[in-house]
This record gives sequence, structure tokens and C-alpha cells, in this order.
Amino acid sequence: MADDPIALFDAWFAEARASEPNDPESMALATADAAGRPSVRMVLLKGHGPEGFVFYTNLDSRKGEDLAVNPHAALLFHWKSVRRQVRIEGPVAPVTDLEADNYFATRSRDSQLGAWSSDQSRPLLDRSIFEARYEDLRLSFEGRDIPRPQRWSGFRVAPQHMEFWTDREHRLHERRLFTWQGAWTESLLYP
Ligand SMILES: Cc1cc2nc3c(=O)[nH]c(=O)nc-3n(C[C@H](O)[C@H](O)[C@H](O)COP(=O)(O)O)c2cc1C
Repeated sequence: MADDPIALFDAWFAEARASEPNDPESMALATADAAGRPSVRMVLLKGHGPEGFVFYTNLDSRKGEDLAVNPHAALLFHWKSVRRQVRIEGPVAPVTDLEADNYFATRSRDSQLGAWSSDQSRPLLDRSIFEARYEDLRLSFEGRDIPRPQRWSGFRVAPQHMEFWTDREHRLHERRLFTWQGAWTESLLYP
């Protein structure tokens, strides 16, 4: 396991799932716009493996616009209950339409309607407009399956750097950095 950061992530994720009070799969996602200005927000991890870490969102959101012009991202998990953090950095690619369709189909009907009703990251004059939109869509889709909105899909962050941080006494924390260069290499960093 020591030379496979994906397996190490799996082990830590399993421990976090057992001990976090909620949302162990939530992670901060940092993107930057064309001028290099960063922004960060939480998203949910919806799949992962050697090829990358997947989340879903609105392609016209701020993060979607950032990734369209600058397809690189950083992810951060902080699991307080186990006093650990994992940092992941790498290039980002869209998931396939089939993958997005399959995932969208597993969401609750309410979440599917939410994806249709929200112009994510756009100004909203009044919340009642959003609620009315949700209700209109609910009625118009009644009795049939809700397809994935065209501008709602997923991204996969391909890990090039993965850092595992462990809390240690006296702030002598442990940092293990894995770097992908055709194979994973491991090094340590000063805390
Ligand atoms: C715990 C948590 C999980 C979230 N998961 C997602 C998600 O998976 N996808 C998403 O688009 N927004 C998610 N959000 C909302 C985002 O943080 C953010 O408000 C939204 O995506 C708009 O971000 P943007 O304007 O930077 O694009 C989540 C928020 C929280 C607090």
C-alpha cells in the first residue's frame, strides 16, 4: 500500500466514513480563472480510482467557467474526526456523457429537478422565482423520467500530486507526498 496513494486514500476514506459525523465525501475544490485568480467551494466526491476523482456540477457555474479556460484543480479533504487531510492536484477532464447520464439517473427526483431549476452561480432576484421554476418543472416532468440537463455534468481530476497529512504531537505533523511521473514516487515534506 505504501507506494500506491489510491489504495492509501481508500483506506483513509474508509476510516473517515466510519468516524465522520456527516459528509465524509465532501471536499474543497479550488479552481482559478483565466487570470489565475483562485476560488474555492465544497463539492461531493462521487467516484474515484487511479484515473481520478469525480464530482458533478453545472457547467455554466463559476467553477465550470474556470475549468473551461483553465482545466486544473486542487481538491482538499479535511476529516476532523481522524485529524487528517488529503490534498490532490492535477489536470481536469469532463466525464463522458454516458457516465454523467448514469450518475444523474441515480439521483433523487428532487435533486434532478434541482439541477434543472438552478442557473447555478447566476444572480437570483428573489427566491420565489427559483421555487416557482422548480414547481413548473416538477409539473412538466410529471409521469416521466427526468433526463440530465445538457449543461449539468461531471469532471474528473487526474491526480498528479497527492499529499497525506497526519496530525502528530507537538505539531511534528507527518506529510507524505506522492508524485505521478509515469509511476508514483513518494517523498516526505517538512510540516
Ligand atoms: C458539503 C457541500 C457539498 C456540496 N456539493 C456540491 C456538488 O457536489 N456540486 C455542486 O455543484 N455544488 C456543491 N455544493 C455547493 C457549492 O459549494 C457551491 O455553492 C456551488 O457549486 C456554486 O459554486 P461556484 O459558484 O463556485 O461554481 C456543495 C456545498 C456543500 C457545503
